Amino acid sequence: MSDVPTVLVLPAPAQGHVNPMMILSQRLVEYGCNIIFVTTEFIHNKVITSMGNQEADVTTGSRIKLVSIPDGLGPDADRNNFRELFDSILNNMPAKLEKLIEELRLKDGVIVSCIVADFSMTWALEIASKIGIKGALFHPFAASLLALNCSIPRLIDDGIIDSNGLPMTRKTFQLSPSFPAMDTDSIWWAKIFVPGSANEVFNFVVHCMPHLELAEWWLCHTTTDLEPEALSYLPKLLPIGPLLRSYDHDEGVTERSLGQLWKKDLSCINWLDQQPHASVIYVAFGSTTLFDNKQFTELALGLELTNRPFLWVVRQDSDCNNKMPLPNEFKGNQGKIVKWAPQQKVLSHPAIACFVSHCGWNSTIEGLSNGVPFLCWPYIVDQFFDKQYICDVLKVGLGFDSDENGLISHEEIKDKVDKVLSDENMRSRAHVLKEKLLNNLKDGGTSSENLNKFINWLKE
Ligand code: UDX
Repeated sequence: MSDVPTVLVLPAPAQGHVNPMMILSQRLVEYGCNIIFVTTEFIHNKVITSMGNQEADVTTGSRIKLVSIPDGLGPDADRNNFRELFDSILNNMPAKLEKLIEELRLKDGVIVSCIVADFSMTWALEIASKIGIKGALFHPFAASLLALNCSIPRLIDDGIIDSNGLPMTRKTFQLSPSFPAMDTDSIWWAKIFVPGSANEVFNFVVHCMPHLELAEWWLCHTTTDLEPEALSYLPKLLPIGPLLRSYDHDEGVTERSLGQLWKKDLSCINWLDQQPHASVIYVAFGSTTLFDNKQFTELALGLELTNRPFLWVVRQDSDCNNKMPLPNEFKGNQGKIVKWAPQQKVLSHPAIACFVSHCGWNSTIEGLSNGVPFLCWPYIVDQFFDKQYICDVLKVGLGFDSDENGLISHEEIKDKVDKVLSDENMRSRAHVLKEKLLNNLKDGGTSSENLNKFINWLKE
């Protein structure tokens, strides 16, 4: 048996999944593993393009090999159509993944010893089981949400959701007496606003659940301090967070920045260097959020009205359909707009005062790990739960209230920014939490120990 395990890492095809699984891969390399990082061709091409097509330079000699498999859809297909994408993945990728593993063995002499599969890609665990290699699950969202998924039969029995996964009435409920209350209005699979999609996502989750039993290890991007109740509810689930990029050498295209779908605009770091300590509002909504024109205008005017410096990420890529004009009244003199930021580096910059976020789980963990208070603006899926957790359980952020037209007005934006920035207690809670989270990564920290145990198992 080899001392150097080769681990095949398989994220779902989205930035919020590729990022944490790439950081996990980098950790595994530090502990002596080789990685085959498998994404769909569509995602792979974006990753390579974001690096200026320098794949060969970046990965030569690397212990992380980037490999792609077609998702089965044509180049112009709408990959935001959840059903089409995941049907196609399920119909096309399993056979190709199995073939890839076989070819690696025959052509390159590479023996894959374990598959680490994202929750949405757990079909791959069937392949691991079939060919007799190890399998592990990686859950990129909050542990509480896996606890929720595991409780689906009970939620139906208790009349909290119907058999299509939709909440029966609006109420709060607890998974166990010590579990923080959850709101039926933030059940993640029901927060898809395309008609019929909630049911499709729910069915997909139900389909994924039995595969989890094939995984010997369940790893989660969380920490014990963050979600103690969820982790004691699911003792098999081991926290390995926070998964943070190391920025020591990350000024250009290096292995450290592997896995970005867009090219990072590093000029914002120089701009941040010019701003006073704890003065800048950082505004970013992850990789999928879309605004309508009116809301975009209110946000622009709200940022202007705060009269504070701001750094705002406005994605402009062809598939994000987000090309909206800034309002004429918007001067933007105090701010900087970029298409894609080096977010983790931005959040750790001393000039940052608060984070206006959609509360994707990676953004949540990254903000918390840097002690930055939140202004929560959830858009879809788990982001509503994350917002509730940030505001009501951790108490390190505030949400925005919509007006009678469902719009978050520019006055509301200014008002909430002022409130968060003047709340010293919130800032100090955020700092305490940051220290707790980072302690998990030190020698002897829970996440660090869990990762050690996982590596030892990989090497067995
Ligand atoms: C998706 C879902 O939308 C989210 O709800 C789920 O929790 C994870 O998968 P996404 O919307 O992209 O993710 O948000 P998030 O989880 O926050 O991940 C975005 C990642 O992109 C973060 O790691 C963030 O650091 C990075 N990012 C974002 C950048 O590097 N630069 C940016 O300008 C914006």
